[in-house]
Amino acid sequence: MKILVTGGAGYIGSHTVVELQENGYDVVVVDNLSNSNSKSLERVEKITGKKVPFYKADILDREALNEILDKEKVDACIHFAGLKAVGESVQKPWEYYENNIAGTLTLVDVMRQHGVKNIIFSSSATVYGDPQFIPITEECPKGRCTNPYGWTKSMLEEILSDIQKADPEWNVILLRYFNPIGAHKSGTIGENPNGIPNNLMPYVTQVAIGKRDHLTVFGNDYDTPDGTGVRDYIHVVDLAKGHVKALNKIKENVGLKVYNLGTGIGYSVLDIVKNFEEANGVKIPYEIGPRRAGDIATCYSSAEKAKEELGWVAEYGIKEMCADSWNWQKNNPNGYDV
Ligand code: UD1
Repeated sequence: MKILVTGGAGYIGSHTVVELQENGYDVVVVDNLSNSNSKSLERVEKITGKKVPFYKADILDREALNEILDKEKVDACIHFAGLKAVGESVQKPWEYYENNIAGTLTLVDVMRQHGVKNIIFSSSATVYGDPQFIPITEECPKGRCTNPYGWTKSMLEEILSDIQKADPEWNVILLRYFNPIGAHKSGTIGENPNGIPNNLMPYVTQVAIGKRDHLTVFGNDYDTPDGTGVRDYIHVVDLAKGHVKALNKIKENVGLKVYNLGTGIGYSVLDIVKNFEEANGVKIPYEIGPRRAGDIATCYSSAEKAKEELGWVAEYGIKEMCADSWNWQKNNPNGYDV
């Protein structure tokens, strides 16, 4: 089976390509490299010992996609490509809606013209907004997002669902990721954010390596055990494995399915600091700052449905996630830019 992986050079994409190749799938990567580096794919090749066919192309480029799908007879697509910075999406909503929504519409149209009607879509726990209940099951109603990035995920879920309903030949699996951290055990691929990291773990690793002087904890007055925000951190390799399980599922002609990919366990910001320090023997100086706009107190998943229907369970614990994040950062202080 040959899988088109859009955004395959990125953080989650590159880890997923490793798992796909190690599970006997052929892959073709399409990435415009706008927020990723093709070195990640060279490193994937070193890990798996297999070539990663790569096309530098944008999912908005219909002609390029047509040529790729004419040439490569793919059976399914795992669709990661998209803009993903929450804060930037507030400043540049048009760019987010254009890239993520128009890009996906173009991709899906080219796919169906080539008779490829299997897609796994990278969605996010952000679609639950401020969740109505915790742990969040897939039955939890979707909520109001606080930024355009989140809306693109939420709207694309609706768009792909409608397309599947109108044409039952489509198989659509929506995967709602919780908070991916960690890196491949080899320490050769990992998260490589541009500029000042928005997300917690890359910020922590940059403090650890001395690039930033301290972490600012965004609020300690939430209704949580220690007052700081609680999230469901998941090892990116576990997340990648979830995609392989979803692909196995899609072969059963599932129609439309939605799965949370999380561990089911919530850790606070201070839990992360403590576990990172203990796992790695590095101090993370921090200061308490004000809340960040749009943040919620608590967000963690129920991981039951993915376990029952996909046979997938996250295996790595928080210490390993912290150790692997640090291993990647330490070995690659400047990410892929040497
Ligand atoms: C954010 C996005 C989510 C997106 C995800 C992955 C929001 C509301 N959600 O999730 O849509 O899918 O990133 O890109 O923005 N924190 C600090 N200091 C920091 C950074 C973070 O205290 O310097 C805290 C946050 O307040 C939060 C936790 O750490 O409690 C995790 O933050 P982050 O890694 O940004 O992820 P989310 O906000 O959960």
